[in-house]
Amino acid sequence: MRMNIAIDGPAGAGKSTIAKRIAKELGFVYVDTGAMYRAMALYILRKGLDASDEQGIAAICDAIHVEIRYCDGEQQVLLNGEDVSTQIRQEEVGNMASATSVYGCVRTKLVALQQQLAATQNVVMDGRDIGTCVLPDAPLKIYLTASVETRAQRRYRELCDKGISCDLQAIMKDIEERDYRDMHREISPLRQADDAVLVDSSDMTIDEVVACIIGLCKERMA
Ligand code: DC
Repeated sequence: MRMNIAIDGPAGAGKSTIAKRIAKELGFVYVDTGAMYRAMALYILRKGLDASDEQGIAAICDAIHVEIRYCDGEQQVLLNGEDVSTQIRQEEVGNMASATSVYGCVRTKLVALQQQLAATQNVVMDGRDIGTCVLPDAPLKIYLTASVETRAQRRYRELCDKGISCDLQAIMKDIEERDYRDMHREISPLRQADDAVLVDSSDMTIDEVVACIIGLCKERMA
């Protein structure tokens, strides 16, 4: 039986960590769609375009080729043949991705690629519009969230552990702004699909969230 799992939710809810673990345990392919929006954003930044320049962005869309490949089970993102998996993790790229993912020209291109990836293999796909738009027929949809405070604390600890100095209040503000943009854009805003299961990870460990979703998946497959 084909089984795609759609995981949506706001930035910092732990989607990628959880989705990766679930994919590994179930032998599914993990698809991080945010990485695709980030790759496009990196190209836009490199071209020196402003996020508000929709016409300029639409004009270069055809020149952007995003590909996904897997190396030892890890997803790598190629931008016009270049592996940009590390560069796209910068804060600046994430903010640009949030700002430019509002445009139809950007979304149409990436949604088609995501649907192709899910058409031939079992995937655990995470993003903002997977359950509502990319895979509306996915047998299992999860809306994974956590409070703004919890998400900011997690991000703060992650950066501190990497030795990067940061400010908790600034991180919180950044998360709130990104949530607002992702939830209020005109095309495919972030929202819980009607048939998605809500999982609030604020007071749950990663293991608990993984076990909960795998349990739901096994129920659906039975
Ligand atoms: O999940 P992330 O932080 O890597 O995503 C970066 C941005 O990309 C996010 O703020 C909104 C956008 N995005 C989107 O619009 N739709 C998706 N399916 C995934 C990400």
